[in-house]
Amino acid sequence: MAAYKITPGTKIGGEVRISGSKNASLPIIAASLLSDRQTVLHNIPRLSDTENMCDLITSAGSSVKLENEHDLIISPGSITPKASHMEQASKLRASFLIIGPMLAKYGWAKIPLPGGCRIGARPIDLHLKGFTAMGAKIRQGHGYVELKCDRLNPTRIYLDFPSVGATENLMNAACLIDGETVIENAATEPEVVDLAGFLTAMGADIYGAGTDTVRIIGKKRLGHAEYTIIPDRIEAGTFMLIAAVTKSNLRLENVISDHLKPVIAKLNEAGICITECGGCLEVIPCERIKAVDIKTLPYPGFPTDMQAQFMSLMSVADGTGVVVETVFENRFMQVPELIRMGAKIKIDGRTAVIDGTKRLSGAKVKATDLRAGAALVIAALAAQGDSEIENTEHIERGYERFEEKLSSIGVNIKKE
Ligand code: EPZ
Repeated sequence: MAAYKITPGTKIGGEVRISGSKNASLPIIAASLLSDRQTVLHNIPRLSDTENMCDLITSAGSSVKLENEHDLIISPGSITPKASHMEQASKLRASFLIIGPMLAKYGWAKIPLPGGCRIGARPIDLHLKGFTAMGAKIRQGHGYVELKCDRLNPTRIYLDFPSVGATENLMNAACLIDGETVIENAATEPEVVDLAGFLTAMGADIYGAGTDTVRIIGKKRLGHAEYTIIPDRIEAGTFMLIAAVTKSNLRLENVISDHLKPVIAKLNEAGICITECGGCLEVIPCERIKAVDIKTLPYPGFPTDMQAQFMSLMSVADGTGVVVETVFENRFMQVPELIRMGAKIKIDGRTAVIDGTKRLSGAKVKATDLRAGAALVIAALAAQGDSEIENTEHIERGYERFEEKLSSIGVNIKKE
């Protein structure tokens, strides 16, 4: 497993260009299966997750061509995929996002049940409840879930939790269902809105994306679309915290500040100024970082995908900060590693209390999942002495050219 070796203390600054959103790219690449025509996607980040999703739609019959590093040209397949095609699904946690398009297009879908991961059980019961309401028959066994239907019917679905994936999966399926489907208590994340933008570009009829009630009037077929993916708000937030913890001026290019409101509000509360200049953000550091409390919530609340990174910042803040993680049941995997670096953190269920300390100390630590790994990079930059972060594959699943971007802003980082 690869590792990052980070030596803190170098001058950080300049500018960094934020890549396209991983969490918008995955449902949109899956949604391209719905079209009878070629679709073109721009600003796709080069990540193992996006490459695995491309392999998955290829195994479902599409042909995918990469151009100019970040553009995908996707042409639909002419055959109905068979179960044997789907071995790719096991490599990708988000492979469940292919169910909606496959079911709507081919009346059939079969994927390995997405096992749990470090941050939680990651069930898909809300997805399956929605597909059952649409008329799909579901069979589970031997670690697979298989869905079949002669035809899907329009319906009204209330999500017990505003699940991002369930909203996206059901929205995709509804685009080819004759009649009106309504998803209530839907997720309102920017990535859901971006998916609706792509579907609409292909000719879908979608109303209310970005609110808690999404209405989809299905069409017989969807056509050609050329679409640009939104910037990755979590990558942007991560670099803002890198600037904050190293007390550096950093300019972020290719960002949508609206998507970062909860993160900017919390950074302002901690004493860090963020100025905006059309499509760019500038982080202006402060001498002492004030401890603040955060509680993760579905959008537009504070994003759970920024919780671990923020905890690293609070570890070297003035005072005591409280972090409450309400979205996933086990998303404090970074805590034992931060404690090894001298952080003073106590966990009580879904609440962590962080007593800020002057500096952390460099140590050998392990990335357990994508955002916990990013949190360790931030902590290493706030430490005295070198750190070595193992299992960096986790980090590189969600941060395009991360080591290169860190070096370009002055971080002394080596990959081993
Ligand atoms: C998406 O995951 C993101 N991943 C996650 O980002 C993100 O943390 C999450 O949304 C919340 O914002 C992608 O978009 C690929 P959910 P998703 O369904 O769709 C429970 C990252 O770091 N739930 O909104 O899987 C679930 O267990 C990743 O980039 C059910 O109970 O998230 C969790 O507790 C991590 N049943 C909560 O809802 C279901 O059927 C939120 O899950 C579905 C979800």
